[in-house]
Amino acid sequence: MLRRLAARLLESSDQPDRRDLVRFSAMDPLMAVWILKGANSLYYGLRSTVDNLSHAVEVLDPRVVAGMFANTPAASGTTEDSYENKSPDVLTKHSVATALLAHWLDNRSRKEPGCAFTAGLMHDIGKHVFALNHPDEAAKIYSASSLWDNFSHTDLLSVEQLFFGLDHTEVGEFVARKMHFPEPLAQVFRTHHDPASLPPYHRVYRMSQIVNAASLGATALGYAAGIPVSWEQCSQDGRWERLVEEGIVPDKTTENLLENIRLQKSRIESYLDLESPLPDIPRPSHSTRAAAERDASPRPSGSGPPSGIGRASRVT
Ligand SMILES: [Fe+2]
Ligand SMILES: [Fe+2]
Repeated sequence: MLRRLAARLLESSDQPDRRDLVRFSAMDPLMAVWILKGANSLYYGLRSTVDNLSHAVEVLDPRVVAGMFANTPAASGTTEDSYENKSPDVLTKHSVATALLAHWLDNRSRKEPGCAFTAGLMHDIGKHVFALNHPDEAAKIYSASSLWDNFSHTDLLSVEQLFFGLDHTEVGEFVARKMHFPEPLAQVFRTHHDPASLPPYHRVYRMSQIVNAASLGATALGYAAGIPVSWEQCSQDGRWERLVEEGIVPDKTTENLLENIRLQKSRIESYLDLESPLPDIPRPSHSTRAAAERDASPRPSGSGPPSGIGRASRVT
C-alpha cells in the first residue's frame, strides 16, 4: 500500500507534500533512519545538523524521497512482497504513537512535524535493530506474551541485556552516532528511559522527558512494544506530574494533561491508516487550551520532581 500511495504522489504534477512523506517514512522507522542519514551526509554539506524528517525530506528533495518509497522494497531488508503488504507491526505502531504524542507534548500549535516527532519516532530504534537481527527473540520481548509473567520484577532493559548482551538505548545511541545524526538525538535515544538522570539544565533534558512520557502514553493507549501498561498504571505514574510541575507542558493539572493524552488515540489511529486523509496535528481540548491561556504567569522554580514513579517506569 505504501508503494502504491508513493507512486500516486509521483504521478501527480504537484510537488509531493512533505507531511505525507514524513508520514510514509514513519511507517518504516528504519527507512526513516536512512532518510535522515542521507540528509546528514557530506554530500549535502549538512553533516549532523538535520534533526528532523521534515527538513530531511526537503534537503533530499521530496520527489527523490517519494521515489525511494515507490522503487525500493525498504532499507530494512524486508522482501518486496512483505513490504508491499505489511501493516504496521507493534514496534512501528509504538514508534508512530510516541512520535505523535511527543510532537503534541512539545508544541501544540506547530503543524509541521519537528524534532520531537523524529525523536519520538526513532527513540526505540534499537528495538527495531534487534527485531531485524533477532526476530524470534524480539517477538517474545516486544509482543504481548507470557514472557513477562516470568520476568514480572524485571525491567525491559535488563531483559534485553539478558537476551542480546546490550539494551536498545545503547543500540539507539550507537545507530545515531554511526549515521551522523545531531548529537542531541543520540543523547535522547540513550537517556529516554531515565531522563531524570540528566541535570535540568542539560540541553536534552526537556526532550528526553517528553519522549519518555510520550512512550508511556503510547504504551497505555494500546501501542505497547514491551511490557503492557494499563491506563490506571499510567495515570499513577509520577512523570505526568513532573511535566506539569516543571512547566514542560502548558497544562495546569495532571488530570487535564492525561485527559488530553487520551483524546489523541483517534488521531493516532487515523495517522496509522494510510488510506485516511492526513489528520490534523493533535491539538489540546478546549478545557486545557483555556487553562493554558489563563496560565500566562511563570511557574515557581525549584519545585523538584515528584517521587514515586511506579511500575510503569520499567517499560518504555
Ligand atoms: Fe525505549
Ligand atoms: Fe518506547
